[in-house]
Amino acid sequence: MSNILFPQDFQWGGAIAANQVEGAYRLYGKGLSTSDVQPQGVFGDIVSREPGDHNIKDLAIDFYHHYPEDIALFAEMGFKCLRTSIAWTRIFPNGDETEANEAGLAFYDRLFDEMLKYGIKPLVTLSHYEMPLYLVEHYGGWGARRVIGFFEHYARIVFERFGSKVKQWLTFNEINMSLHAPFTGVGLAQNSSKAAIYQAIHHQLVASALAVKACHELVPGGHIGNMLLGGLQYPLTSKPEDVLEAMQMNRGWMFFADVQARGAYPNYMHRYFRDHQIELDIEPGDLEALQNTVDFISFSYYFTGCASATAQEKKRGNILSMVPNPHLKASEWGWQIDAVGLRILLNELWDRYQKPLFIVENGLGAKDVVEADGSIRDDYRISYLNAHLVQVAEAIKDGVEVLGYTSWGPIDLISASTAQMSKRYGYIHVDRDDEGNGTLERRRKRSFYWYQEVIRTNGDSL
Ligand code: BG6
Repeated sequence: MSNILFPQDFQWGGAIAANQVEGAYRLYGKGLSTSDVQPQGVFGDIVSREPGDHNIKDLAIDFYHHYPEDIALFAEMGFKCLRTSIAWTRIFPNGDETEANEAGLAFYDRLFDEMLKYGIKPLVTLSHYEMPLYLVEHYGGWGARRVIGFFEHYARIVFERFGSKVKQWLTFNEINMSLHAPFTGVGLAQNSSKAAIYQAIHHQLVASALAVKACHELVPGGHIGNMLLGGLQYPLTSKPEDVLEAMQMNRGWMFFADVQARGAYPNYMHRYFRDHQIELDIEPGDLEALQNTVDFISFSYYFTGCASATAQEKKRGNILSMVPNPHLKASEWGWQIDAVGLRILLNELWDRYQKPLFIVENGLGAKDVVEADGSIRDDYRISYLNAHLVQVAEAIKDGVEVLGYTSWGPIDLISASTAQMSKRYGYIHVDRDDEGNGTLERRRKRSFYWYQEVIRTNGDSL
């Protein structure tokens, strides 16, 4: 496709997260995080760690020790940007310390320096699906108001330390996922009440806003965004009841951005809380803090789903209460593929917030085959990504301001929902299987060269 005009400074790149790539889970002073006790992924059981036990994420792809090689490969593809996260527990092993762990800070110094060496801009998430386990066990996770202060302290320390190197930040990864995976999102038991979850979310929203304020104070020329799971839902039919249901379901997740981008709770949430007998503890200063709104909106995009008002149809809903769309095909993991939906979502978010958008995750998790000659011909991944990027281009033509696109897992990593190595997203293959066997050798897939060309031509090759 020609005639696509991505902005000259469009940030092409990839996105990873500390707990899914780094490994070194107890090394160099790092404390245990919530991710370390969920060996089966974000919907899985919470276990206690015993000396000598084994979890695939403990080593992950050992990015902690392989990052120079991996970043060189990203640079070879022409990356302008790499999204990663800081493991809070490397900086504050328990979360409530005053003094930071210097070894943790020094690691991220080296990592960001390595990116900057190639002109790759870091985009850094403060909390990607993990928090110090100690804060969960000793304070009650985000249910405790005190955690706001611990998080703000952590954010201020990393802004001060890395502010000259990292100009783009995100607060909480997929902040709306707390409604579906409360342990991962806010450190609460999976069966917590809605009231407890929304209270914890309130604390997290205040913390997010305080991080925005701190970033503006401490990072010269810095920008900070929120991060949503962009779970767009269509009405299953044109029945007005289904259309209304779709509106309510979309409000369920856009509520987070409404607070983070507009600075206040939307009226429809007051009704929701009333209808569900939820009374939030909102203390003086909270509402004022929320007025620190984000500079841009970021989101992940993998699938869409449908909403239905019919009880029978609702039963077919997945973990995010999405009813399957009869018009779409799904990935091997049942995620329905919808490239056009990305254009719709970009327009929707742009119309609603009028703030720049950053697509910080998108990609296809699939099983890859290493051929006898060592090649990996992942044409399915290329066609998925190509189709989505064509729709990004359409949205740009529609007038949407898009800052960049960091596809998920440019190098194979451990999946978040199922903790599998075999659910691969990468342009770069990593030799490791679900049992933990493999040499960790890195290998370029066919998609590596496809993405390299997309970036080289600034999207003209799509
Ligand atoms: C998002 C997360 O939900 O989707 C990532 O921010 C995650 O951490 C990605 O890895 C893909 O999901 P999964 O379960 O296939 O890894």
